[in-house]
Amino acid sequence: MKNEKTCPELVSGLKILVTGGAGFIGSNIADAYIKSGHSVVVVDNLSSGKKENINPKAKFYEADITDKKQISQIFENEKPDIVNHHAAQIDVRKSVADPVFDAKTNIIGTINLLEISIRQKIKKFIFASSGGVMYGECGKIPPKELQTPRPLSPYGITKHTVEHYLDYYSKVYGLKYIIFRYGNVYGPRQDPHGEAGVVAIFCNRILTDGEINIFGAGEQKRDYVFVSDIVLANLIALHKGENEIFNIATGRTKSVNNLFCELKKITGYLQKPIYKPPRTGELFKSSLNVKKAQQKLGWRAKIDFNEGLKKTYDYFKSRIEASNRITE
Ligand SMILES: NC(=O)c1ccc[n+]([C@@H]2O[C@H](COP(=O)([O-])OP(=O)(O)OC[C@H]3O[C@@H](n4cnc5c(N)ncnc54)[C@H](O)[C@@H]3O)[C@@H](O)[C@H]2O)c1
Repeated sequence: MKNEKTCPELVSGLKILVTGGAGFIGSNIADAYIKSGHSVVVVDNLSSGKKENINPKAKFYEADITDKKQISQIFENEKPDIVNHHAAQIDVRKSVADPVFDAKTNIIGTINLLEISIRQKIKKFIFASSGGVMYGECGKIPPKELQTPRPLSPYGITKHTVEHYLDYYSKVYGLKYIIFRYGNVYGPRQDPHGEAGVVAIFCNRILTDGEINIFGAGEQKRDYVFVSDIVLANLIALHKGENEIFNIATGRTKSVNNLFCELKKITGYLQKPIYKPPRTGELFKSSLNVKKAQQKLGWRAKIDFNEGLKKTYDYFKSRIEASNRITE
């Protein structure tokens, strides 16, 4: 029989407050926590998240993490054991256009949660950071967690800043935390109308017979990781990994052209992509070394690129078919 240390689903009965639990990643995590026998409280202001993503078994508060009074009241009512913090302003371009708003949500909002968390003596704080924007332009060797961060956008700076705050709250107040620096996450429930989330955008264009734009030569590379692998890391985080940072990705990169070709094969899409001028400031390569998570957490990405793309495409297809049935 597997022991508890290697089987996250055997840890159950915790009350977990998931911020951003109406969003893409947070809602998938909330579902998995509920399935594993935990009770979940979702806090989300629905700025990009959707009510339909919220698990009906979760208790939902429509609230903004920048409103400390309201958030304090929620913690007071609910007394969570764990805080899983996924609420954020996630748009890199928006962070460039409005760095004050970005910092208010991502830094001030998080400090609010940290202040309340230490007062309430929560058992662990799980934080969604970003590997994709943390290390700047990557060379041949994928960066490990110890590499000096070089974020190139206000969004990346806010994510890195929060990592420092977590270290501070841990050293001064004894808060236990885990930080995950994700690669480029994709899968069901990602917003296909956003600026980022190329897999969701391409799937949506293919299904609506739209054009696919590729910026630059399409050779920019990313480490694409399927959302169920992110969920698994967040299950493991309930009982492993203390006061540490982990890159969470596949350790392999794919270009946008690779992505387009794979989707073409899966879907039979016939149109050619339209190549547009490169976007200023876009990284050419972002990659991540994931050995630490494999060695210390026993975590590894299970879903390969092709399988993940197929699952994502099938999800968007079923959604479009369902909405067509409603309008018929
Ligand atoms: N998607 C990725 O590839 C990726 C990569 C690295 C890190 N992350 C991080 O993972 C987390 C989730 O990202 P996602 O892709 O699911 O994005 P998302 O936009 O789907 O989810 C973010 C959620 O936070 C909510 N939110 C935003 N501001 C809020 C506020 N002030 N108060 C309360 N709720 C608020 C939104 O309504 C949304 O439901 C974010 O912290 C993001 O930075 C995502």
